[in-house]
Amino acid sequence: MNNNKDKQATLFKNLESVPFIYGTIIFNKEKLVCFLDGINDQSNLSLLKNKIIGLKELINSPKSDREGLLNIDPNGDTIALRRDVLISELNQILEARTLERAKYYLKRLKNGVQKFKTCKVNDINLLRWKEYDEIITDSLWVMDKRDTSGVHLGWYWGNFIPQIPHQMMLRYTKKGDWVLDTFVGSGTTLIECKQLGRNGIGIELNQGVAQKAKELIDKEYNRYKISTEIISGDSRTVDIKTILDKHGIKQIQLLIMHPPYHDIIKFSKDEKDLSTAKSTDEFLKMFGEVVDNVTPFLEKGRYFALVIGDKYSKGEWIPLGFYCMQEVLKRGYLLKSIIVKNFEETRAKRNQKELWRYRALVGGFYIFKHEYIILFKKK
Ligand SMILES: C[S@@+](CC[C@H](N)C(=O)[O-])C[C@H]1O[C@@H](n2cnc3c(N)ncnc32)[C@H](O)[C@@H]1O
Repeated sequence: MNNNKDKQATLFKNLESVPFIYGTIIFNKEKLVCFLDGINDQSNLSLLKNKIIGLKELINSPKSDREGLLNIDPNGDTIALRRDVLISELNQILEARTLERAKYYLKRLKNGVQKFKTCKVNDINLLRWKEYDEIITDSLWVMDKRDTSGVHLGWYWGNFIPQIPHQMMLRYTKKGDWVLDTFVGSGTTLIECKQLGRNGIGIELNQGVAQKAKELIDKEYNRYKISTEIISGDSRTVDIKTILDKHGIKQIQLLIMHPPYHDIIKFSKDEKDLSTAKSTDEFLKMFGEVVDNVTPFLEKGRYFALVIGDKYSKGEWIPLGFYCMQEVLKRGYLLKSIIVKNFEETRAKRNQKELWRYRALVGGFYIFKHEYIILFKKK
């Protein structure tokens, strides 16, 4: 099984910047650029459009490729373009009313093939931004099911869906960056690290949970040969410097925290566990101590994603999410986004739906259906 994956990795070794392998067309880059230049030389709009129609036909029936555009040399310079995006860009050229406009779209297409423009915190090629429709940019996330790829099992009560660290890493890390999750639980973040080629460190108080997470993470295929480490300890006091020194790094590039939502789920009886805090104030104090312990090790200009929900206590809504947000802001972070994400419906929740609706009507409250992903940037 792994052998096959290795072969695939070798085959696509020149395509590391390509976000999606499937539904892509692999071109000989040099020949494609030459071909696009040839189209650009046309001095008449209909001749230019005829060439574009020719390119579309070639995409639809590769056997007609006389130019060798799809002639892939495994060691050559190849480029994979998403088929649907490419077709839509070619259609846009075909719809242009002036030669000037058509050449403008053509130049944009050529730039996307030739150049790579990205920002400091991720690998997104902004010249081909249309290909990244997997990346969410809206602040309302409605997800009806969890990702179950690889070893993501969702066995741990209180875990988060893999899509959360997945989105955060695509947006806020580059391949090979280091991610720290201070409440790693069942290791969802580190499994995702392996899938996306980011190095990951996770801290978990509960030794048994940490051990089980480690065993699962070890089973995930390590395609990008990255490092992952699970440390069993208290995130408020664990010596981060020593951990980073061991890996020969001074800082991490993404911080993820998914703390207990105070006492909604009691993870253990350990007094170091945030879910055993006697009051909201004590919970916030403990949470603040974790933030203080790790903040010096987050690189400047990098991101911190806090995943947290609110709670009810004695008939009162406790806005834990906003309280935690304030704790982080007090420490000088910049607020970048508050994302509201739905809770997916589990069978247990579905069975109790009627009961909760009745209780809500009696008690004058609303049933929790959302949690937050609060995003901060280190100034
Ligand atoms: C909401 S769960 C995180 C789940 C995780 N995101 C996942 O997908 O499995 C919170 C975790 O924080 C751990 N925890 C509580 N207090 C802690 C502390 N002081 N240091 C480290 N971990 C702690 C709990 O044992 C629990 O596993």
